[in-house]
Amino acid sequence: MIFRRTLSPAAAPLTRKDLFNGLRGLVRGECARLELEQDLRDYFGVKHVFCVNSGKTALTLILSALQELSPKKEVVLPAYTCFSVPSAVLRAGLRPRLCDVDERTFDFKFEELQRVIGPDTLCVVPCHLFGIPADLGRIQMLCKANSVMLVEDAAQAMGVTQDNRKLGTVGDVGFYSLGRGKMITCGEGGVIVTNSDQLAQALARRHADLPKPTFIHAVIDLLKTSLMLILIRPSLFWIPASIPFLKLGQTFFDQTFPMTRLSMANVGLMRCWRERLTQSLQGRRANAKEYQQVLRSSEPTAQPLAYLRFPVLTVGRSGRDALMARAHQDGIGLSLMYPSTLNEIEEVRDVEGQYPGAQSIVDRLVTLPTHEHVSSLDKQVICALVTSHLMRQMAEV
Ligand SMILES: Cc1ncc(COP(=O)(O)O)c(C=O)c1O
Repeated sequence: MIFRRTLSPAAAPLTRKDLFNGLRGLVRGECARLELEQDLRDYFGVKHVFCVNSGKTALTLILSALQELSPKKEVVLPAYTCFSVPSAVLRAGLRPRLCDVDERTFDFKFEELQRVIGPDTLCVVPCHLFGIPADLGRIQMLCKANSVMLVEDAAQAMGVTQDNRKLGTVGDVGFYSLGRGKMITCGEGGVIVTNSDQLAQALARRHADLPKPTFIHAVIDLLKTSLMLILIRPSLFWIPASIPFLKLGQTFFDQTFPMTRLSMANVGLMRCWRERLTQSLQGRRANAKEYQQVLRSSEPTAQPLAYLRFPVLTVGRSGRDALMARAHQDGIGLSLMYPSTLNEIEEVRDVEGQYPGAQSIVDRLVTLPTHEHVSSLDKQVICALVTSHLMRQMAEV
């Protein structure tokens, strides 16, 4: 156990007032949910919104609704993304089809995407990893030309815009995650957005069939979220970080996740979500800008981005591991993301598939924290450490 200031790799703003609203949510009933949905519709400028208990539930619901509109069975995914994405595809009874990613943008390799889309492709799911927009213009054109749906995974990009359009609202349908390390959180949650009436009808039927979380379940979740609010502080984060069975930061492939509507406590926790989102985006943008200036990393777009985490590609796996070991000692919130390409997951594997771009990200990526608990001193320490490691690694090759 290391008793010292420790930054978490990810954290979303949440205040005591939000917790109070969560408590009130337990007794407020349906009108609070309707208010939240209306507010989300207004903010995202979409016709239909559905709130569920997680991002993976949101994606599962979307994919099963799409099957009402088309008999096709394949879902094209980037070979490097969160393991929840293929787990939702399989849970919806569909087949994941992987496409390699460009390590400079974390987006699909476009030529390969053209090759991967085939007669049985139901939809393409670009993931705006770390809040970095995928090239939706090109992907949308390709989807339209092949009569394929575009499902935006904006789990990590709530509130981020591209060409003045909010990510998640550009494709046929999109979703956000309200999980713990996202732009904003209510503990656990997911939001589906779409302008398609036809899809919304199919979604509404499935949403109505989802169970409501029980009162006890909602209370337990609220207690967990309250504990998180306390333990996520840098002065206390060493406690959860040193408890191995919490498995913080580890990624698992699990198709048996619970699927419910958003609990009333979590609806309550979302009451002041707009202010929290604005504050979260501003803070992340400012922190990322400082990292960019010092590390001189190239940015995939001209606008300053509100990175959920700031990605840095090291020279190779051994250098990355050395950097991570040092960062761990210093408790400065650096983290690895997903432990392998999706092709390493047995249930997803395509034995003939080659994903060198995705593998390079697995081997080289570290992410820097951008959340509200990162202080100026933290940024200085992080930049000094990362710069010296990168320079040493460059000198060695
Ligand atoms: C890119 C991406 N898609 C989907 C999800 C699933 O969201 P949730 O954890 O709310 O189920 C996540 C969550 O980490 C994610 O990062």
